[in-house]
Amino acid sequence: MQEHLKHPIFKIVSEVADAENISAFVIGGFVRDIFLKRTSKDIDIVVLGNGIEIAKKVSKLIKRSKVSVYKNFGTAQLKLDDIEIEFVGARKESYRLNSRKPIVENGTLDDDLQRRDFTINALGISLNSKTYGQLIDQFKGIEDIDDRIIRTPLEPDQTFSDDPLRMIRAIRFAAQLNFNIEQKTFASIYKNRKRIDIVSKERIIEEVNKIILSERPSTGFLLLDQTGLLELIIPDLFKMKGAETKNGLSHKDNFLHTLQVLDNVARKTDNLWLLWAALLHDIAKPATKRFFPKQGWTFHGHEFLGAKMIPEIFKDLKLPLNEKMKYVQKLVQLHLRPIILSQEVVTDSAVRRLLFEAGDDIDDLMMLCEADITSKNDSTVRKHLANFKIVRQKLIEIEEKDAVRNFQPPISGELIMETFGIKPCKEIGIIKVTIKDAILDGVIHNNFDEAYQLMIDKGKELKLIPKN
Ligand code: CTP
Repeated sequence: MQEHLKHPIFKIVSEVADAENISAFVIGGFVRDIFLKRTSKDIDIVVLGNGIEIAKKVSKLIKRSKVSVYKNFGTAQLKLDDIEIEFVGARKESYRLNSRKPIVENGTLDDDLQRRDFTINALGISLNSKTYGQLIDQFKGIEDIDDRIIRTPLEPDQTFSDDPLRMIRAIRFAAQLNFNIEQKTFASIYKNRKRIDIVSKERIIEEVNKIILSERPSTGFLLLDQTGLLELIIPDLFKMKGAETKNGLSHKDNFLHTLQVLDNVARKTDNLWLLWAALLHDIAKPATKRFFPKQGWTFHGHEFLGAKMIPEIFKDLKLPLNEKMKYVQKLVQLHLRPIILSQEVVTDSAVRRLLFEAGDDIDDLMMLCEADITSKNDSTVRKHLANFKIVRQKLIEIEEKDAVRNFQPPISGELIMETFGIKPCKEIGIIKVTIKDAILDGVIHNNFDEAYQLMIDKGKELKLIPKN
């Protein structure tokens, strides 16, 4: 085990702990990740004594480091280059309580380990010189790593009542590591699911983001659904479940389709916001669903309503209400456009408009749209993908020719005012839109001279007189 304790911090902690005659251990995710052959950045140290004092002493020996003390939690953090090392005294109480009350009742190592979330995280390695590198595994964590099992060290009801976020963490680890949740643990999540209500949205979303960023996020979302948590944490996704049939006509299960799209995108990128766009691209399908005897099922306008729903969803989930949200909104709103293009004869003007509206996000939009082709019929998928190639080619050609991706109007409002000697008024907007539309429709080229001439012509039509 010693070969895994390469970081110089371990020897320093060892020296300080020996000198203070205190037992010290590295614990939790760092130890788990050794056995999973993953690299982990954060190091958690538990001492049988005062964690803050040990952290301060360690910090004195490492000149470059800085300690931050969180007195209420009885913890101290040391930052060393890009590594965070957290020190805490072993506790009798749960590792992280829901309340903000200070809880620092000292405990033994066993007390500390058994109040952790899962057996795979309840592992420790001794750092004192006499037992340096010795593994502590009271709850068969290594066996569970080998068997790929998520299990709580105590009765699951107890572990989840200590911190209900752990129900989502169980699913996050299952998705991230491709592990199974042990039956009793799973049953307890289902039973205790409503307790998730007492956990802050911020903590929940941090775990959901980790599920989204896992290799096959559908695994996590299916588990969220099977445990009854999905309905409680992201109800709009839950509403997408199920396929209805009328007059022998069915639509696809929009939840399962969404998960397929999400997996498709996850194979190509780890852009969290593009993945959120994949998760939410059809979010307004339940609200726009209609049945017409001749046409069958329709979801008219779901892309527009979906884009409209995004701010409320982001607000509810405590996701950022900034440019990330706008990006997701844009992709949701435009997600059908490339598909429509690929089905029709592609005109230059339609491509130009799409480039203009998507701007620099065009490549992400294309990735989302390709991922959205999930028909069971292989030849349909192939046909769509082939058409998509044509659209992509066309996008490149038009952008090279017309540069509308980052469209800047060649004529400014100021120039219009100056040319006709007018103050701000609605005619300026009309002229600007006319010029933009003419460029996008290919009536004029994207250059100053042609735009200037159009400004003069349109101005005259609006009864404006050029100053000279
Ligand atoms: N822990 C816990 N209950 C929680 C959160 C954390 O018992 N609700 C314990 C676990 O022992 C965990 C350790 O605290 O290993 C560190 O937690 P954290 O840094 O959140 O996660 P990691 O397990 O390290 O996983 P990752 O680094 O992948 O987030």
